[in-house]
Amino acid sequence: MIDKRALFNLLTERINEVLKSKADKDAKLEAVCRLLKENVPYFNWVGFYTVDKKKQDELVLGPCEGEPTEHVRIAFGKGICGQAAKLRKTFLVQDVSKETNYLSCSANVKSEIVIPIFKNEEIVGELDIDSHALSPFTKQDTVFLKKIGEMVSGLL
Ligand code: SME
Repeated sequence: MIDKRALFNLLTERINEVLKSKADKDAKLEAVCRLLKENVPYFNWVGFYTVDKKKQDELVLGPCEGEPTEHVRIAFGKGICGQAAKLRKTFLVQDVSKETNYLSCSANVKSEIVIPIFKNEEIVGELDIDSHALSPFTKQDTVFLKKIGEMVSGLL
């Protein structure tokens, strides 16, 4: 069993260090994706989407780690990412085969969590995590990932 509490505390510290570094914004976001993907065994794809500055109802793929995805632009309302953006709410799907409004990236993906990221109460992007495990996410993941979303919101 993973001690999520210890792991997430450690990762929060490591991410804090990345954010304090002199790297540019995208390098910092990439480092956050890498830290999450490499250290949490059931985080198999980790990426950021940003709200398009010109077309405010579309998401654009930003820094990410994992298999390449064809979903580089997603309209609000489409898929899990688009629904989270439209509803401005965390969207947790423990079994993607049961979600009809879903954009598949890989047949290996079994579950997904999407955390909207806000700046001055406006949605500016999302943190998206795909897992090859069924139902791996608990309240601890949601709390941790929301915290990470708040920590990086200034970079989006
Ligand atoms: N599965 C997502 C699309 C993005 S990928 O997971 C990278 C969705 O349904 O919105």
